[in-house]
Amino acid sequence: MKPSDFVRQDRLWDRLMSMAQLGATNKGGVNRQALTEEDGRARRLLADWAQARGFDVYQDAIGNLFVRRPGTDDNLPPVTTGSHLDTQPTGGRFDGVYGVLAGFEVLEALEDGGIQTPHPVEVVAWTNEEGARFAPTAMGSGVYVGKLPLQSALETVDVEGVTVADALSAVTAMTPEAEERPLRSPVAAYIEAHIEQGPVLVTAGETIGSVTSIQSQNCYQIEIYGEEAHAGTTPRVNRSDAVLAAVEAIAHLEETARDEADAMRFTVGRFIAQPGSPNTVPSHVTFTIDLRHPENAEIDRMAREIETVIPACAERRRCRAEVICTSAVPVTPFAENIVDMVDRARLDLGLPGRKMPSGAGHDAMYIAPMAPSGMIFVPCVAGISHNEAEDALPEDLAAGARVLADCLAELATG
Ligand code: HGY
Ligand code: MN
Ligand code: MN
Repeated sequence: MKPSDFVRQDRLWDRLMSMAQLGATNKGGVNRQALTEEDGRARRLLADWAQARGFDVYQDAIGNLFVRRPGTDDNLPPVTTGSHLDTQPTGGRFDGVYGVLAGFEVLEALEDGGIQTPHPVEVVAWTNEEGARFAPTAMGSGVYVGKLPLQSALETVDVEGVTVADALSAVTAMTPEAEERPLRSPVAAYIEAHIEQGPVLVTAGETIGSVTSIQSQNCYQIEIYGEEAHAGTTPRVNRSDAVLAAVEAIAHLEETARDEADAMRFTVGRFIAQPGSPNTVPSHVTFTIDLRHPENAEIDRMAREIETVIPACAERRRCRAEVICTSAVPVTPFAENIVDMVDRARLDLGLPGRKMPSGAGHDAMYIAPMAPSGMIFVPCVAGISHNEAEDALPEDLAAGARVLADCLAELATG
């Protein structure tokens, strides 16, 4: 029997539904933002499930949580899978958590099948992949591989002024048994299972995507400083209106981002005007830009536009701008042997699918330069994600876990 034969659809679905209770919203989604109490309870639940199966638990300096099934040669680096437990504020029941629980299902399947592997097999819940509460996205995996400095990550604050360091210590205290895991500990190979979060598989009626690459992504935090003034008495010529400077810059950049192929993704997801009084000219605007494209050169072109247009618009309105790039990740190609292995495993299981790129960002974008990596996509209903209506079919989720099981076992035995 193959490892995939021991994957159980009901067990995986039940665990997903248990996790969906933690931060459940009244619209059927999940609000379990990074390093909140709900995030801590989700990590605690995973650690409880791990302990019940005799798996050891580890965590590192940024809170990444590792569950380990030992190998027969435990000195070998682990073959690793995983994703994230944190969600968007209006998130769904599958983004991220599916990859963590599909990975946990593989550990259980190997255990149930009595399948020994030379390499240890580990599943990791990366801290703060979404970057919704604390920028940037994929903070935990970025710090793990050394791409994001630990200290500046720990000093990052949310809109309430809470630091990552303070939120992290409250959450890691909920898994006190977790042993210390050094950052940049070696990984033999990495495969992440995830819902596609787009329309390709569901439109084609296919079950498995073997992901070939992740598109480039730059994240920005923009600060524009003007001057408070009376809305009634202050003539336009005397105003330093931070909102007008911001909206002029955003409109100009959105125009520039419009390409024939509709490939450039330009998103202003957060826009905060202060002091926020209807009859005071706003003196400060903070807004974010999320920029993505399948080609590095196009991202670089838009990056130059951002760096020039925003200060120019600010200056024209007697304001001052700060453009802070919080992360810049180039196109991530995955290892050909892993992409082919995933595609072969789905064919062996008789599952329809294809090789395809990822429009969404994932922790795998940071792991890929460190270890041979790949991803397994399964469809989500209507391709909807980052939305409380996000949904997926139990049989598709189990199919992805079966492909994952056969690939991880092959890598851990190789
Ligand atoms: O933004 C992303 O692409 C990921 O879903 N956090
Ligand atoms: Mn995700
Ligand atoms: Mn997401």
